[in-house]
This record gives sequence, structure tokens and C-alpha cells, in this order.
Amino acid sequence: MTAPWWREGVVHEVYVRSFSDGTGDGVGDLPGLRARLPYLRDLGVDAIWVTPFYPSADHDAGYDVIDHRAVDPRLGTLDDLDAVVADAHALGLRVMVDLVLNHVSSEHPWFRAAAEAGPGSAERARFHVRPGRDGGALPPTGWPSIFGGSAWEPFGDGEWYLHLFDVHQPDLNHDHPDVRADAERTLRFWLDRGVDGVRFDAAGGLTKDPAYPELPDGWQPGHASPYSDLDGVHDHYRRFAKVLSEYDGDRVGVAEVWGEPHVIGPYVRPDELQQAFAIDPLFRPLDATLWRRLLAEQLDAVVRHGRLPAWAHGNHDVKRAATRWGEDGARAVLLLMLALPGCVYLYAGDELALPEVDLPDEAITDPTYRRSGGTDRGRDGARVPLPWTTGPAPYGFAPDGTPTWLPQPDGWGTHAVERQEADPDSMLALTRRAIRLRDELWRGAGDEVTWLESLPAGWLGFRRGAATCVTRFGAGPDPDLGGLGEVLLTGGASDGSATWWLRGDRPGTTTDEEAGWDRR
Ligand code: GLC
Repeated sequence: MTAPWWREGVVHEVYVRSFSDGTGDGVGDLPGLRARLPYLRDLGVDAIWVTPFYPSADHDAGYDVIDHRAVDPRLGTLDDLDAVVADAHALGLRVMVDLVLNHVSSEHPWFRAAAEAGPGSAERARFHVRPGRDGGALPPTGWPSIFGGSAWEPFGDGEWYLHLFDVHQPDLNHDHPDVRADAERTLRFWLDRGVDGVRFDAAGGLTKDPAYPELPDGWQPGHASPYSDLDGVHDHYRRFAKVLSEYDGDRVGVAEVWGEPHVIGPYVRPDELQQAFAIDPLFRPLDATLWRRLLAEQLDAVVRHGRLPAWAHGNHDVKRAATRWGEDGARAVLLLMLALPGCVYLYAGDELALPEVDLPDEAITDPTYRRSGGTDRGRDGARVPLPWTTGPAPYGFAPDGTPTWLPQPDGWGTHAVERQEADPDSMLALTRRAIRLRDELWRGAGDEVTWLESLPAGWLGFRRGAATCVTRFGAGPDPDLGGLGEVLLTGGASDGSATWWLRGDRPGTTTDEEAGWDRR
């Protein structure tokens, strides 16, 4: 029996608003994506995850959803979505959609009704609504919003509603039967249309402690909280997993969870989802000892449930990989992740090594900027529309002369697809080669990783199947890799981090001693 595609696949995250504009309004859309599907086929990825394209008030770039079972007219139509799925399938690509079930837009009909209906109403029971303290003057608890400020907003009549994100994203109460039924209906709606998988946005937030306890003294973001990753949240993923299993084909559900390995492991128990993101490494500096521990922990947390990790190389919520780790680091980590057991999620534009853009203040749309009082510049710098041609602006993203929803900086065309396609040393060329070679070397190689225990300090390496992956974190001399096998691919820089893939041509000969390296 062959393993399902997602187990060791590569998924490209298409941030739809910034991928390609087919209609000429400066915002990426479904027709734009459809026209670029051959590019994604050529990249060699198995699937795309398309970020929200539902009707939205755009207070959080589409993650504030007004109707979960429709397409925002600015981004296309349901027919366009069907055409994306059909064309993708014809090209051998799968399509995953992004389900935002934790909250809705404040313009969603349910929330409008709740605002109007008043305190204690049935309409408000679909949300997390509490009386304020001090006769309604103060928020019910001191819970902070993930985007800054309080997580509670007053209705103005003594009751407050919970929003873990922006004030325009009220949290749904998933203990309410209407909310549960609606979530399931949404899931079936997209699966019925033939999508191959689902990303569950803000997956850990669906269950809140009904006692709404105060956070303990000294609590910090990232610590356990009464609104994330509670035991009860797993009942939802068991239900969703059951729905997914009713559909034919290898459908996949991936949980967007930001916790450490022990937090994400439970989401991939055999009766839950197929994947939960391994996001933790995204925030970590490139240090060999640290990464050896991180990677081993991530593997252990999911392999014990018979699953493999879903490595995130980047995404639309963090700084661009080429800025976070440097371009050499982004290359080295890409090759490292592609060599590990599991599925790799690559963020559109990172295959071009796009840098984070420092946008002018007035161009920033991310609610975190406003809610943090300007101290956090937010995530827009990683969402600037992609450059397809060398110029002029908008670099093939939209028809000539169209201003883009986030401004592209001068010189953006130096990173263009057109240019990188012609350069064998480009990040794009490396990504294409690596994805193909990975399939040949490692797909189906199983979950076993044999770490090379005696590499020099600053190095990390392992054998899998008949090949070896070795990473040097940071600059340093290149040891003689000859003893490990024939070098097949290198990604990184001689004066920075780098990863080498080698074919271990004689099984059993790729030990550190034979490579002539000193033990630490
Ligand atoms: C997820 C999304 C992020 C969004 C948030 C609220 O973390 O990835 O972009 O802002 O959920 O929906």
C-alpha cells in the first residue's frame, strides 16, 4: 500500500491576496491563482493550501469571515474555486482550504444579531459573552488579545464579548449546537466540492474554560491558558476527523497550533487529524545543538501516534525566511526539512528568497500594528505581492500600472520568478531541484532517522534510507564530506549556514569515523 500523498508531501501556501491578480484591482484572487497553477506544478509541490477567500470585512486580511461557504466577489466566484480545483487536479496538484472556525467577522449575521439582541439573549449564546466586572465597566477577565490589548470588548450594555484576535473577530462558542452544526456543514461544503484537505485555523482555541478563570500571576504569551489547547478541544478534532474519513481519496486535516511538541502531539492521535504544524523551529536561531533537540522532540511527539511532522519553513504570520535566518539559512533549513521524515509547508515567495519588506507606516493593514500601539509592525512585510517579472511594477503580479494592495518596494523585480528561472544558482532553481531529488531519495524512507553523533560542533547530520543530510549552522570550514558519500545537492553559502545531501553509496560506510571527522 502506498502512503497517502500528504505523509511526505510538499505543500505550498498560496497567500491568495498576494499571489497573482487576475482581475486588475491590485489584490490577488482565484482567477490569478488559476492562471499560475502551471508554475506550481513546475515547482514540484504536491499540494497548495489557499488562504481564506471567503467574504470578509478585511480587518485581518480575510481571516475575519462573513460567510464561510462562499467566495468573496473581489476574489472570484464559487465557479472560479471549482475551476482552480479542477485545473489543479488535472495538473496533479491537490488543493487545501483554510477553515477559520474559531471566530467570525463582526459583520457575520450571527454577530450582528447578537449585538442587537441584547444581554442574556439566545443570539449572544453563540459567542463568549460575559457581564463585565464593576457593574459592566471592566472586562470580565484580564485575558489579552493575541493581537494586543484586551481580549474583551464591551457591547455597551454591561456585557462584553471575547475576541482572542482583533475586535472584529468575535470568538464563537463551540459548545453551542448551532456553532457545531455550522462548522461541520462548512467542512462538508468544501470537501463536497472536491478539496483535498483543510487547514484548521487557530485550531487550539475552539474550547475555552467555561469558568473563564483569571490568568495566573506571571503568565506570559505561550504559557498554558484557559483558552488554548484544553483537553476538550480534541473532541472537535475527533468529530472533524470522522467527517474527513467519510470522504474518499487521501484527505488531510492539519491543525494550526503554535505550541511546543507536547502540545501538538495530541492533535494527531489516531482518531484526530493527520497533521499539526511543527511551527516552533520557525522562531529558533540556527544553532546545531538546539535544532537537534527541537527536531528530535517534534519527531517523537507525532511518530508515537504513527504520524509524521508537518514542518513549517515559513508562513504568512512570521517574518520571511530569508530575513529570519538569512538567505543561506533559509536554503540550509529548506534542505534540512525536506530531508526529514514528514511533510514540508513552504510559504509562497520563500522559494524566491523574498526578504521581509519594511513597509511605510501608512501602508500597514495588519491589526496587530494598531492594537500594539505601533510597537509591533505586524505581518504585512511578509505579504507583499509576488514579483513574477523583472519589471516595471507591479512586476507581473497585476496588469501594468495597477497599484498593489501592499506596495512593492523598488527593486522587487530582482527577485522575480522570470529572473530566477534563468539562474541555475537561484533559490527557485534550488527549490525545484530539491523537491524532485527528495522524492527520489527519501519518499517512503520511513520515520527512522539515524543521527550522526560525532560531527564537529555546529553541525547536524543524519542518515535516512540510503542517503545522508548534513547541515552546518553558521560559517565554518567545510570538512571533507567524501567519506559520507557522493554530494548530490548543496544549499546555503560558504560563509554561512549550508546543508549537503549525499548518497551513501556503500551502506554502512557513512560513519563519522570513516568521514575522518574528529569526535567532539
Ligand atoms: C491564524 C492565521 C492568522 C490570523 C489568525 C486569526 O493564526 O494564520 O493569519 O490572523 O489565525 O484568524
